[in-house]
Amino acid sequence: MRQIWITKAGTPDVLVVKESLDPEPQTGEVRIRVAASGVNFADVMGRMGLYPDLPRIPVVPGYEVGGRVDAVGDGVDTSWIGREVLALTRFGGYSDTVCVAENQVFLRPAGMSASDAAAIPVNYLTAWQLVVVMGGLKRDETVLVHSAGGGVGIAATQIAKHIGARVIGTASVAKHTALRSLGVDHLIDYRTEDFEKRAREITNGRGVELVLDAVGGDSLKKGYRLLAPTGRLGMFGMSSAAPQKTRSMLEILSTLAGTPWLQFNPISLMNANKGVFGVNLGHMWGQVDRMRIWADQLLELWAQGVIKPKIAQSFRFDEAADAHNFIQDRKNIGKVILTP
Ligand SMILES: NC(=O)c1ccc[n+]([C@@H]2O[C@H](COP(=O)([O-])OP(=O)(O)OC[C@H]3O[C@@H](n4cnc5c(N)ncnc54)[C@H](OP(=O)(O)O)[C@@H]3O)[C@@H](O)[C@H]2O)c1
Repeated sequence: MRQIWITKAGTPDVLVVKESLDPEPQTGEVRIRVAASGVNFADVMGRMGLYPDLPRIPVVPGYEVGGRVDAVGDGVDTSWIGREVLALTRFGGYSDTVCVAENQVFLRPAGMSASDAAAIPVNYLTAWQLVVVMGGLKRDETVLVHSAGGGVGIAATQIAKHIGARVIGTASVAKHTALRSLGVDHLIDYRTEDFEKRAREITNGRGVELVLDAVGGDSLKKGYRLLAPTGRLGMFGMSSAAPQKTRSMLEILSTLAGTPWLQFNPISLMNANKGVFGVNLGHMWGQVDRMRIWADQLLELWAQGVIKPKIAQSFRFDEAADAHNFIQDRKNIGKVILTP
């Protein structure tokens, strides 16, 4: 098999394709011949040595794949063989062949491409947990989606619009036209505008009912202030700690210094009628049965045409460095995919 390894922490060129023997599925596992692997910002942070959950480098990253099952281990129904699937992988997804536990594998609905299959698991499960499960977004409410042009941002927008909510998105200005056509009602260029001020203007001073923030640091303070009574702030990342292509202690410290460690205390939350919550899909491995229920709901919505991943660009395995550069140069509108 061919796999993309993070050979050491650093710039995108530390990603190297290596060959090794095909893995054999163990008890309870299926083996998938991968046609598409999803790239996530967590992989980028892992490559920079900024992702504590990543196993020790050298490592093959990757949380999700689309492909076809070609073998099963003991105890697994042989009818999986030949089926087109999508799967969550606990690392190792940047491979043309992976073995994963049967309960992390889902049948692909008829007509779903391998790229769509690789684009759905992480982005849409995260968005579902943020918007529906914990964010409890309702019709006619307003949600502020940061990084609206990323994979999670587009997924969250599609889910929010399906609910009947209004979406305010922050994104680089070059992405605004495309994001408008993808359903974002109001766009803010967070680089030139103060998103808190603009969102307040857009909502006539009322604020918003839900904020989805993976930027972290100072952005959380503003998002919290922006919440209307009963509003919720969903925190799920820290991209502001990674503005460059290698780890910078200064940027990490600056993000940590801006983080509102003390603002969200029980008294202020009660008195303001606000809620804060955190999401880390990578810490949900003990809850796979719940994630399966969410995934079934999402696949049903895909079949109905309600959700549809936007593929920004596909790169070959030997172009993995270009794929990471593409994201870090903030060129992607939607999901970045790797194909063997
Ligand atoms: N907690 C979880 O379970 C979980 C799961 C998935 C993702 N996440 C987090 O959610 C965020 C978005 O993930 P994603 O997969 O949707 O991202 P993505 O598709 O890779 O897109 C990232 C987008 O974020 C914006 N951005 C903000 N800061 C950036 C930076 N320092 N470098 C590059 N781009 C930056 C860029 O848009 P602009 O050009 O508009 O700035 C870019 O298009 C990330 O922080 C990720 O770690 C968390």
